[in-house]
Amino acid sequence: MEFKVKDISLAKQGRLNIEWAENHMPVMMELRKRYAKSKPLKGLKIAGCLHVTKETAVLVETLKMCGAQVAWSGCNPLSTQDDVAAALAKAGIPIFAWRGNHKEYYWCIEQVLKIKPHITVDDGADLVFTIHKKHRELIPDIIGGCEETATGMVRIRAMAAEGKLSYPIISVSDAQTKFEFDSTWGTGQSTVDGILRATNLLLAGKKVVIGGFGHVASGIAKRMKGMGAHVTVCEVDPVKALKAAMEGFNVSSMDEASKFGDLFVTATGCKHVITTKHIRNMKNGAIVANSGHFNVEIDVAGLEKLAKKKRTIRKDNVEYTLPNGKKIYLLAEGRLVNISAAEGHPSSVMDMSFANQFLSVLRLAKSKNLEPKVYEISREQDNLIAGLKLKSMGMKFDNLTKEQEKYLCSWEEGT
Ligand SMILES: NC(=O)c1ccc[n+]([C@@H]2O[C@H](COP(=O)([O-])OP(=O)(O)OC[C@H]3O[C@@H](n4cnc5c(N)ncnc54)[C@H](O)[C@@H]3O)[C@@H](O)[C@H]2O)c1
Repeated sequence: MEFKVKDISLAKQGRLNIEWAENHMPVMMELRKRYAKSKPLKGLKIAGCLHVTKETAVLVETLKMCGAQVAWSGCNPLSTQDDVAAALAKAGIPIFAWRGNHKEYYWCIEQVLKIKPHITVDDGADLVFTIHKKHRELIPDIIGGCEETATGMVRIRAMAAEGKLSYPIISVSDAQTKFEFDSTWGTGQSTVDGILRATNLLLAGKKVVIGGFGHVASGIAKRMKGMGAHVTVCEVDPVKALKAAMEGFNVSSMDEASKFGDLFVTATGCKHVITTKHIRNMKNGAIVANSGHFNVEIDVAGLEKLAKKKRTIRKDNVEYTLPNGKKIYLLAEGRLVNISAAEGHPSSVMDMSFANQFLSVLRLAKSKNLEPKVYEISREQDNLIAGLKLKSMGMKFDNLTKEQEKYLCSWEEGT
């Protein structure tokens, strides 16, 4: 079996971390129990391109236990946990991932595609993209794919709109049990975690500027506020901006906020939310980070050109000196700070996202001749996952009575 990881001797620690994740992923463990015996994925080959974390390892091993042949790569050059990658390699998974694989990122994807997948599992759509651009010969054998994140779905929906999507994709990103929990609470907490690991900053009293107020950015804004920061939100959607204002955040334009922020965090899925014009406006010592999927939200290339000096201060923290002498600190190269500088979302929230991935793979495995378009997660799947999660937390929820069900579908009863 082929694999490429940083250091196979890290496997023991990786296995301990995977076990830790398993202990905090009760929904995944329940699904394993339900499906591992009957092997519903037997005979299927699955290619994955997802951040290689301890939680992803739980998904990968669940797919394997259910009969699938799996090959995996990371979906970001900085997000691989090398010990976990080593543990997966040791467990016989063809895995091609290591932290810092900027140069061989697409080479890793090419290795994974050698499996000739029936199903693809993506976070950011790089597998879908590579297959459509360079490996169309694989398409006839592909049943479908699943996509984890908002930016991946933007790319896939753009392909579908142009009539260029050649196989069906289930949007795990749009599952309620994904975006309302992983995106908001998971990214909120892990972004703070990443920034603190890279800076050890005291957030209380700091002026923190957040780019966006969608699922991810609103979660970061709330966590920052909870840590005592004075948070300003910069949005392009007036409704989201108004929502932020009513939730008690200051709302402003990036042109203005760039003049007073101590710490800037983007999470929009858009490009150049922070430009060199904004960077020039910033105070000496300002810190800039991103938690959106790609490293395009901050104009890092522009900053590189603008700066006259650059030095690494500590892990994931680079100081740029501008021509006017001001120093600006960029965290994790402008890549997702929560996974690059910290460990990504806590296991217990990835439990639900990966339960959605797993159940979506099962749905594809049972499907025949699906049209090449985007499919949503069913309400039943969201309810199943939320119910299992609540049960694991020892919490109960109510059910509608027959009378209530009837009332909610009727119009005769009024004042
Ligand atoms: N770091 C992680 O672990 C993680 C987890 C989930 C999603 N993501 C990524 O985070 C990004 C945001 O995801 P989301 O689910 O919040 O999407 P979303 O669509 O819910 O929110 C994006 C928000 O950004 C706003 N926006 C867009 N362009 C803007 C601009 N130029 N300036 C200011 N605001 C702008 C939009 O109006 C919207 O409100 C995506 O790239 C997604 O893939 C990262």
